[in-house]
Amino acid sequence: MNEDIPHFNGNARMIDLPIVSDPRGDLTFMEGGRHVPFDIRRVYYLYNVPVDSERGGHAHRELEQVIFALSGSFRMKIDDGTTQADVWLRNPRKGLYIKNMVWREMDNFSQGAVCMVLASHFYDEADYYRDYSEFLAASQAA
Ligand code: TYD
Repeated sequence: MNEDIPHFNGNARMIDLPIVSDPRGDLTFMEGGRHVPFDIRRVYYLYNVPVDSERGGHAHRELEQVIFALSGSFRMKIDDGTTQADVWLRNPRKGLYIKNMVWREMDNFSQGAVCMVLASHFYDEADYYRDYSEFLAASQAA
């Protein structure tokens, strides 16, 4: 079941993945175009993140992503230019889907946190807004 983040109008939402549990442990899976609403073209992960680290600080022109805490926890601050929300990720089967044109910042990493990101496109620096005021102007012009 997907849980909407209040007031985010489809720009961000939680995605719940299936879980298969037995005495050997838990198994979770995801398939592009099914559980994840795009074809997955890239996967990257953050690890060895100092607990006082702040990451993100950008938005994307086209890229969509789903973000998971595979281990530990961290906070995602998201902002679509109109609405802001804080989302804590701490469950490896609950991912945060973020559409394009959503500014995100990440902090409060727990010791040993692992953040995995599924992305709809290959890495392309030209797709980034790294300046918040530029992002805001573009999002409000849209
Ligand atoms: P950055 O976007 O600053 O990371 P974060 O959003 O997690 O804070 O990326 C850090 C560096 O890694 C930057 O030089 C771009 C590079 N990078 C790639 O080469 N490929 C990738 O898929 C990603 C996500 C980043």
